[in-house]
Amino acid sequence: TDMQTALATMPKAELHLHIEGTLEPELAFEFARRNGVRLPWRTLDELRAQYRFANLQSFLDLYYALMRTLRTADDFRDLMLAYLERAARDGVMHAEIFFDPQVHVFTDHVDYDTVLDGLREGLRLGAERYGVTGALILSLVRDMDVATADRILDMAQTRSDEVIGVGLDSAEAGHPPSMFVDQFARARSLGWHAVAHAGEEGPADYIRQALDLLHAERIDHGIHILDDDELEARVIRDRIPLTCCPLSNLRLQVVGSIDDHPLPRMVHDGLVCTVNSDDPAYFGGYVAANYAALASTGMPLDMLAALAANSIEASFADDADKERMR
Ligand code: HPA
Ligand code: ZN
Repeated sequence: TDMQTALATMPKAELHLHIEGTLEPELAFEFARRNGVRLPWRTLDELRAQYRFANLQSFLDLYYALMRTLRTADDFRDLMLAYLERAARDGVMHAEIFFDPQVHVFTDHVDYDTVLDGLREGLRLGAERYGVTGALILSLVRDMDVATADRILDMAQTRSDEVIGVGLDSAEAGHPPSMFVDQFARARSLGWHAVAHAGEEGPADYIRQALDLLHAERIDHGIHILDDDELEARVIRDRIPLTCCPLSNLRLQVVGSIDDHPLPRMVHDGLVCTVNSDDPAYFGGYVAANYAALASTGMPLDMLAALAANSIEASFADDADKERMR
């Protein structure tokens, strides 16, 4: 439709995207086959029957199970290329992309250098082929032993200029930002940007901790900001961007229906919001589908265009690069 075309051609940046969350079922089966990894599902249909999630944890269980199929630098390259090709069709000019090396290294026993080599090769080829620029944010996995976060930073340190930032993801409740003060201080000392998932399933206080203790420059999700008026006023005043993911919130039952999503209210209040796909292979759509879901609730096209403009503004790209994107 005309609306879909308009939404897919708006220039935008994607700021909340887990590369492992772009692993489509077909590609996971292909990687399992070529790497000899056994999966508990015999057919694509059996696997496809697993994509109904009750909450964040039930999604994470499948996300980590399929991640086991990623073994070689070629796998990580192909995964990145498939995402960038798809993102280009949604009008993405630039993507700041999370990866979860603690899982690859300590759970799946893949070398950090293998992961980084593959992702970087994918970014290089993707920029060349599809014109989408990309950068990596190393996301710390908050429900793994904190010692593994330190060990990953040891590995990342010698190649620190190949990553632009540190993030914090995985099971939020019971794993507050306060647990990662030292790791974020260390990451920031490498010259990295800092962002953190907070206020997705966890309370507004985790957003406060991410700002005060981790010095996060953006908050990923952050929708529980609406539970704390004082904190909301501060985030509005300081223009801290929030990377919202409507279809993710819907599929993980953080909101009951797309019409109940708080994003219109957040925009109305004056928060700097952006629209992102989070884990598009799991949540039923890439970034333009997230804009389309908002359009379906009656959000006007000028507000959707303002959200796309916010995404470019809230990116870590330099001013010349932002000008190229607009
Ligand atoms: N939240 C927390 N952890 C995650 C997510 C998410 O949306 N996606 C991948 N890991
Ligand atoms: Zn996320």
